Amino acid sequence: MTNLSLAEHYQQSRRQSLSICEPLVIEDYGLQAADFVSPPKWHLAHTSWFYETFLLQPYVDGYRSPNRQFAVLFNSYYNGIGEQFPRPQRGLLSRPTVDEVMGYRSHVDQAMMRLLTDNTHPESNAIQRRTRLGIEHEQQHQELLYTDLLYSLSANPLYPTYSHAAETNQSAQPAKFQWREFSGGLITIGLIRLLIAAQGLPLIMKAHCTRLLWRPSHWPTG
Ligand SMILES: [Fe+2]
Repeated sequence: MTNLSLAEHYQQSRRQSLSICEPLVIEDYGLQAADFVSPPKWHLAHTSWFYETFLLQPYVDGYRSPNRQFAVLFNSYYNGIGEQFPRPQRGLLSRPTVDEVMGYRSHVDQAMMRLLTDNTHPESNAIQRRTRLGIEHEQQHQELLYTDLLYSLSANPLYPTYSHAAETNQSAQPAKFQWREFSGGLITIGLIRLLIAAQGLPLIMKAHCTRLLWRPSHWPTG
């Protein structure tokens, strides 16, 4: 992590999820073009459910969810936590509305900020560890927001564009080719997210990487 405080890092990651949704129209929030994708609204709610379930309920006395049924609607695959609404039917959840989900996020954020700024909490170490996991989890769903959205938008014969920003940025230029030197050997390329079964949290983060044997040589890169 950067030298931002944990509370700032939390807020930054939460804002990032909302900024990904800024180009959307209201109808896009419920899109689910296939069983294997989730609507943007569900991702926004599920990441809030994570903090509610693994931090606010265990560590904040008297914490109350705005709706107890969210515990089922926005649980993904956490069998140990309880019942789950079927993934292929997430697109049927026209309620809660987008406004209500945004309200859910704010409710969770306010409670999380109170928790993260309470330096006297006896479980502060566990709270910090779990919050770091929550930030990673939010970022994982930001990747899914992009991939799921692009898939769902592609099912529309009108081919709606997610954002026109890239098209109108005339100053964007591809990087110049240049030579880079490698020592060779077995290297890993791509991104490996955390593979976690720690602290009692049944998390499985996705891995996107490959390994290859690189012979010492020069190779043009861009
Ligand atoms: Fe998740």
